[in-house]
Amino acid sequence: MKKTIESELLAQSPDGDANQRGLRQALGAFATGVVVITTLTDAGDPVGITVNSFSSLSLAPPLVLWSLNATSPSRCHFDSARRFAVNVLSEDQIALSHRFASRTALKFSNIPVHTGIEGLPLFDGCAAVFECRLQAQHPGGDHVIYIGAVERFEAYPQRAPLLFHEGLYRRIGPPLEGAGEP
Ligand SMILES: Cc1cc2nc3c(=O)[nH]c(=O)nc-3n(C[C@H](O)[C@H](O)[C@H](O)COP(=O)(O)O)c2cc1C
Repeated sequence: MKKTIESELLAQSPDGDANQRGLRQALGAFATGVVVITTLTDAGDPVGITVNSFSSLSLAPPLVLWSLNATSPSRCHFDSARRFAVNVLSEDQIALSHRFASRTALKFSNIPVHTGIEGLPLFDGCAAVFECRLQAQHPGGDHVIYIGAVERFEAYPQRAPLLFHEGLYRRIGPPLEGAGEP
């Protein structure tokens, strides 16, 4: 039994290129949702990026966080914006995830949006949307961590969320037997 477990180990130390691939693969075991973080540039143009590093942080006060690759061309906009929105994608929004994970300059063309606080672009059809005021920003290795205070939210529990696991998009399954409050 022990042998099987050991033979399935990909890497034990995250140093080196090969092990970095192993680390990435191991991190992919952690299933997440998929969100698009949106904001406005100083000129008022919409900006958006697909991320799965989103997490709830605190309930009282209500705080959330996400992280952005420090070399992202979108970084300057998120650094200077006072607010950002978290659009939690639903299972029929894979195309949106692809679009906002790409480097196209036309990310927002033909995307149905409504506007939130101070014109924040919010997507229609999401499972939930959180409008946040930037509270703090911290360096985190090769990423930058943004913490936002939730000022307003929309929730659509009837819409199933889009999931991401081991590098693949997935949909939510039925609850496990015996499932209840954790
Ligand atoms: C499912 C998924 C999750 C992602 N999560 C993140 C993330 O948490 N942080 C990040 O910086 N990039 C993440 N990316 C990559 C960005 O979406 C991608 O690099 C995008 O091109 C960045 O936009 P930019 O060119 O405006 O920086 C993710 C991509 C996908 C498909």
